[in-house]
Amino acid sequence: MILVTGGLGYIGSHTLVELLNAGYDVCVIDNLANTTIDVKDKIKKITGKDFKVYIGDILDEKLENQIFEENKIDAVIHFAGLKAVGESSVIPLEYYRNNVEGTLHLLEVMKKHDCKSIVFSSSATVYGSQEVQPLKEDAPLMDATNPYGRTKRFIEDILKDLYKSDNSWHIILLRYFNPIGAHESGLIGEKPNGIPNNLMPYITQTAIGAREYLNVFGSDYKTHDGTGVRDYIHVCDLAHGHLLALRKIEKDKERNIAKLDIYNLGTGNGYSVLDIVNTFMKVNNINVPYRIVDRRPGDIDCCYADATKAHNELGFKCEKNLADMCKDSWNFQKNIKDDGGQN
Ligand code: WQD
Repeated sequence: MILVTGGLGYIGSHTLVELLNAGYDVCVIDNLANTTIDVKDKIKKITGKDFKVYIGDILDEKLENQIFEENKIDAVIHFAGLKAVGESSVIPLEYYRNNVEGTLHLLEVMKKHDCKSIVFSSSATVYGSQEVQPLKEDAPLMDATNPYGRTKRFIEDILKDLYKSDNSWHIILLRYFNPIGAHESGLIGEKPNGIPNNLMPYITQTAIGAREYLNVFGSDYKTHDGTGVRDYIHVCDLAHGHLLALRKIEKDKERNIAKLDIYNLGTGNGYSVLDIVNTFMKVNNINVPYRIVDRRPGDIDCCYADATKAHNELGFKCEKNLADMCKDSWNFQKNIKDDGGQN
């Protein structure tokens, strides 16, 4: 069985669909901090499969022990954590406690139950601001530009030290770039609480009339049109990358190999904010009013992945393009509206 922490969240829920469709038994621990319990029913509707959800926190070792006592957990995919870049500068202690301390509790319980296989949800933010693009996994890591990114960096370092202390652990660190889009059913997608920090949910909420206009943060970056460039990856491609990571661990176990590996999960293409906005308007035939404003503190000019290593070692290959990402994001947003926001 696979334990998925944060499994009802945006990336977690799409990964659950991949795992269930691939025939895995899964269970979830989620404190519902950034999701709702009805996501479970949506996943069941998409896959026709059921699974156990333990509502609670990765800080709760008692609950985690109960999960491992009640289920034979072969591996953990660890998503649970706070993830808003801007918010992390406002409430850093909650970020360090939730993300870092929570992971320590999880790892302690895994060790106690002799479960030593983990796929960790890391982030391109651990690279910090890099001159050389695209980014390779062996790039020297610069300082992260916010507490959220630092928690991801700390957890990577904790896992590296854990592996050095006991190399019977199977550890894969997946560095995500910018996940956007939604499952083609429109039943699950990115539904941030409050005002969206990220670009795509802000675009879709502007398109549906919930926001007056999109603020484009800065037009004087060293990019082809002056607006920030990022590597946007469809959340379904990203989710599939987790299935491939799990399969690699299983293959390594068969060959009696235990490794710590790091992989970028990105498309290898960089798109600017205006590329995204213009593509979104074109493929969905909808207007997105926007205005250019000052840069957002902490933003970098450009960031996109060299995903060759994931391609060569995991067989990772993105199937969806930017038009798919824009169409699927819009489809999900319209469903939320039709659903009165109770999606
Ligand atoms: C993308 C681009 C903004 C909003 C962060 C985290 C990363 C991951 C994704 C968790 C930038 C511009 C944005 C808006 C804008 N987080 N923008 N107007 O900052 O690249 O990455 O979110 O998984 O770990 O670091 O993503 O979507 O916030 O910004 O102009 O209203 O869009 O300046 O150039 P970011 P983002």
